[in-house]
Amino acid sequence: MEFFKEIQSLKAFLSQKGNSISIGLVPTMGALHAGHLSLIEASKRENQLTVCSIFVNPAQFNNPKDLEKYPRTLNRDVEMLKNSGCDAVFAPDAKEMYESEPTIKFDFGELDKILEGKFRPGHFSGVALVVAKFFHIIKPTIAYFGQKDFQQFKIIERLVTELKFDLQLKSMPILREADGLAMSSRNMRLNETERKKATVFYQSLSEAKKLLNSGKKISQVRDIVKQKCESVDGIKLDYFELANVENLKPTESVTDKTILLIAGFVGEIRLIDNLLLNEN
Ligand code: PAJ
Repeated sequence: MEFFKEIQSLKAFLSQKGNSISIGLVPTMGALHAGHLSLIEASKRENQLTVCSIFVNPAQFNNPKDLEKYPRTLNRDVEMLKNSGCDAVFAPDAKEMYESEPTIKFDFGELDKILEGKFRPGHFSGVALVVAKFFHIIKPTIAYFGQKDFQQFKIIERLVTELKFDLQLKSMPILREADGLAMSSRNMRLNETERKKATVFYQSLSEAKKLLNSGKKISQVRDIVKQKCESVDGIKLDYFELANVENLKPTESVTDKTILLIAGFVGEIRLIDNLLLNEN
């Protein structure tokens, strides 16, 4: 597996491979887990070359403490990627990606003002900026993302459409721990008690899905979920919403095009999760 810290050396490696090769890109912020590796596997199945980027992108952190405490496990990540058969890792430092403080801001209209956007102002502009940079540098044939960050995927779809990036996007299913907790790099920061409490988010989603399917109204379900989360010491709910999968606008009625999204804190750690209502 090749390892690059510099844009120029990565580009030289990719141009050696020629234009006809299909490149799969998996952008990550490291602290890798099986969820990330499932994206690498998908890319390996469908492309001749798989590139994984590892970059904790300062531009997308609205909270400096979250950026400082974000888990960084580069050596371990590289070992995991080697074992997964990834072909190349791109792990630049912040100077390589941002020569100076970025001035470009993205505005996605309503899409970046709701849900995560409401609680993390500027977050999606930072995500779009770094992802656009990766697309320019690597020119992937297919880029792989997780359904775990559902709104992020919608933002990147808009980015690709509006900037006419010539690539395909794929969204892959959420990988979960045995007790349902969605895998996340931030789970590493949970202590043992917090780790147990964190399951409340997936439990809430599953229970809400059952209640909605049995005919309960979303307003009633929202109250039940609020109560369930807030009865656990240290849990703070940011939002729980039923939304349309296309535009993420809140909706009252369940169809096969609706999704439940949840976000909140376990102690100091903020977690997100979601559940499509058309799945079993
Ligand atoms: P990160 O949180 O490291 O996630 C990298 C990719 O892995 C994202 O597409 C995310 O949705 C996916 N992923 C995370 N947890 C997953 C799980 N449990 N199952 C399946 N896939 C999962 O998302 C980011 O990084 C950044 O915002 C990034 C796109 C790299 C831009 O900086």
